[in-house]
Amino acid sequence: MQKISKRIYSVGVNDHDKVLFEGLWPLPYGVSYNSYLVVDEKVALIDTVEAGFEEEFLENISQAIGDRAIDYLVVNHMEPDHSSLVGYMLERYPKLKIVANAKTVPMLQGYYGTPLEKILVMKEGESVSLGHSTLSFYMIPMVHWPETMVTWLAEEQTVFSGDAFGTFGVVGEDIVDSTMTFELYRDEMIRYYSNIVGKYGTPVQSALNKLAGLPVARICSTHGPVWENNVNDVVRLYDKLSKYEVERGVCIVYGSMYGNTAAAADALAIELESRGIPCAVHDLAGNNAGELGISGALRDAFKYDTLIVGSPTYNNGIFPPVETFMRALKSRLIKDRRFYAFGSYTWAGSSVNQLNALAQEMNFELLGPGTSFAQAYSRDKFNVAAIVDLV
Ligand code: FEO
Repeated sequence: MQKISKRIYSVGVNDHDKVLFEGLWPLPYGVSYNSYLVVDEKVALIDTVEAGFEEEFLENISQAIGDRAIDYLVVNHMEPDHSSLVGYMLERYPKLKIVANAKTVPMLQGYYGTPLEKILVMKEGESVSLGHSTLSFYMIPMVHWPETMVTWLAEEQTVFSGDAFGTFGVVGEDIVDSTMTFELYRDEMIRYYSNIVGKYGTPVQSALNKLAGLPVARICSTHGPVWENNVNDVVRLYDKLSKYEVERGVCIVYGSMYGNTAAAADALAIELESRGIPCAVHDLAGNNAGELGISGALRDAFKYDTLIVGSPTYNNGIFPPVETFMRALKSRLIKDRRFYAFGSYTWAGSSVNQLNALAQEMNFELLGPGTSFAQAYSRDKFNVAAIVDLV
């Protein structure tokens, strides 16, 4: 528990044990499920935490408000990492009213059987008074579920933003960013955005435009630090990512069965490095694959302007983990990337053509026809310098 301001307490928890967020995304630095109390004449709890942390959550709340009742539970977002203790809280605090919006109601009923009479349904811009302060609600659909809203506490210029501006990584004893640099979380915020929210660039832009009308001094997200010192930086990063804007650099992503496509990827990385071009390399398969897998590859595909993708020909197609990566790019509507494909084959090479076809479906700019080489890698078959000249 941490008191953040005159009225706001952080009562969320750190999860050091979960291996895969949403069952998909690795968590080498853990994740936090943030929840906040706003304490005035009435008490509001903003979101809950994931099931399994009941005891710690209640202890945090108790440290903040003792035996006081909670009047409102605001459900900004229904994904179960934030909502799965709704029923539990209703049992503990029988007078509690759930504050939500119309799109949330069927999800509350479907997930938790929440009785209708327990729910106060808010429309865009409507408010709930806590006494000397007011919570107002603004819809930000598809950031990143359709029911998502943010809660605005005008008296403290604070937005409770749901997943928006969230990041992977647990938080320290001080959840507020006053004692640490944003750089500590930047890559994990990009990975979080690209993995979880990446498909919804246009809705994120709509949400940012809506928030631009508010004098935000503090962002209380559901994951990661509370942003006070870095509000402008995190908003700028979200703006950039949701516009699919990039920086100069190359993201090499590949899979390899017997090391020949891998050798070509390594040669490309060495050549790029020798020319001072920023480069990130992601091996998606085998013993040497990076622990972040597709999750890390997506992060750097969102970051850099050029994608070089390698795949051996497998079953006359793309090596499965690489195809999964390409389809993950497509489902995130990623655009405006420069693209080059390469890969080895044994008796018939088709992976490069198929990678190019997928890239064209995403309107990527092909830097060339790609390089497909037979059997073992060698510099004779794979002209590294000529490929990097195209970059
Ligand atoms: Fe952290 Fe969309 O849930």
